This record gives sequence, structure tokens and C-alpha cells, in this order.
Amino acid sequence: MNLIEMKHVYKTYHAGDVPTHALNNIDLTIKKGEVVVILGASGSGKTTLLNCLSGLDTVTKGTILFEGKDITHMSDRKITNFRKKYLGFIFQTYNLLEHLNVYENVLVGAKLGKQKVDIEEIIDTVGLTPHKNKYMHELSGGEQQRVSIARALAKKPEVMFCDEPTGALDEETGKIVLESIIEANEKLGTTMIIITHNPGIAEIGDRVLRMNSGRIVEEIKNKKRTRPKDITWG
Ligand SMILES: Nc1ncnc2c1ncn2[C@@H]1O[C@H](COP(=O)(O)OP(=O)(O)O)[C@@H](O)[C@H]1O
Ligand SMILES: [Mg+2]
Repeated sequence: MNLIEMKHVYKTYHAGDVPTHALNNIDLTIKKGEVVVILGASGSGKTTLLNCLSGLDTVTKGTILFEGKDITHMSDRKITNFRKKYLGFIFQTYNLLEHLNVYENVLVGAKLGKQKVDIEEIIDTVGLTPHKNKYMHELSGGEQQRVSIARALAKKPEVMFCDEPTGALDEETGKIVLESIIEANEKLGTTMIIITHNPGIAEIGDRVLRMNSGRIVEEIKNKKRTRPKDITWG
């Protein structure tokens, strides 16, 4: 079954004289358990796509179905609830709680989801067991990003949206972070949507969608996923 379906979706901004079609007739399906990489230069519409897919932003025209349910006409309260229950987010910045340690940050995520989870196991999935009692200022950027992955995983989301998850990281650390994302997909089955302008990252996914000027201009199915450590960076 398709987890997400986007049908003829447009998002048009009216700032200044000419309208910007940030999304220009997008058709897209994502299956449960897939790792999909969305690639495109800055300004191509990646973040807008993510914001519409995740119900943070409304579409101008078109339909988005999540597990067959139309989310484009849900009330604000319902959509907020839907986001909280089913969706996980990782951004370039980590947005962690500085006064809490690793374990406690992940616990905060678990409480959002209200499902029973094994916090220790999730911390282990992202390779942070030796650091679980540390505070954020005691961790490197890559480690902090792995805390944010663990926090997002702790609510057992159906899908995780990763917007430039390695944007602030160097190659070595970035690859470790990507490995955590892939491991989480393999162990927990979480669908992963990874947005990036780094073309090398395309190889870690099952499918790559390339965006340009609000359109999906190319779709590639990878024969097999490449492990993050083996990709070409940049
Ligand atoms: N709130 C907004 N108001 C007006 N234009 C916007 C807004 N958000 C995005 N855009 C425009 O939509 C296009 C796509 O932006 P965005 O989705 O952020 O691209 P990307 O994430 O690929 O860099 C850009 O031309 C951007 O300027
Ligand atoms: Mg963006």
C-alpha cells in the first residue's frame, strides 16, 4: 500500500509581481518502508514539498493522501494531532533540550508518541549508548544530530522527514549520521524521506526524485542501496 500519495499538487506564493510556483503539479507516491531521497538545488522547492507533505503548510491546489486519507482538508486541530502522532522530523539544526541529557531528550520524544518504546534500544540504534548520560554541550555536532534522530524515532513515527540532515556536518560525521538513518529504517521499518542538495546522498536510497523549479524532473530507482560510508560526498 502507498503510505503517501500526492496528486497534482501546486503551491503558489504571491510575493511581489510574479507568482512563484514553489510546487508545480507534483505527483508522487511513497511506499511504506522506502528510503526516498529528494535532491535539488537551493530554491527548487524541497522544503515546500516537505512542509506540504507533512501538513505544516497548506497546498494551493491538489490532494495529499496519507494511508489513503485526505490530509489536505483536515482541521488545524486534526492535522496537528496527525503530525504529532505519525511524523518525525530532523533538520539541519538539532533543536535539542540543553538542560537534559541524551536519555532524557529521547524520553521527551517518546512521550509525544504515547507508544511503549525501549529508549535504550533506540539510543543503541544510533550508536549513542556510551554517551547516554551526557549533556548536549558535551557532544559533537554529529552526535547531537544522532540524538535528534533518536528523539524522532522514539515516538515510532510512520515516516521521518529529514531536511538537510547533514547540512551542517563534515563528510565523516555526515556519513555516520546517514548510517543511523538507514539503520533505523532497517531495524524499525520507518519510512525515510531525506532532502538534500548533496548528490552523493542519492545512492543511499531506494529511489531518488530530483526537483527543479517546483517540479520533479527526474526519478531514479536505485538497483541497490549503497552504504553511506561508500558514497561520494559533495
Ligand atoms: N513563504 C514563502 N513566501 C514566498 N516565497 C516562498 C516562501 N517559501 C518558499 N518560497 C519560494 O519558493 C521556492 C522554493 O523554496 P524552498 O521550498 O524553500 O526551496 P529549497 O528547500 O529547495 O531550497 C523559492 O523560490 C522560494 O523563494
Ligand atoms: Mg530547503
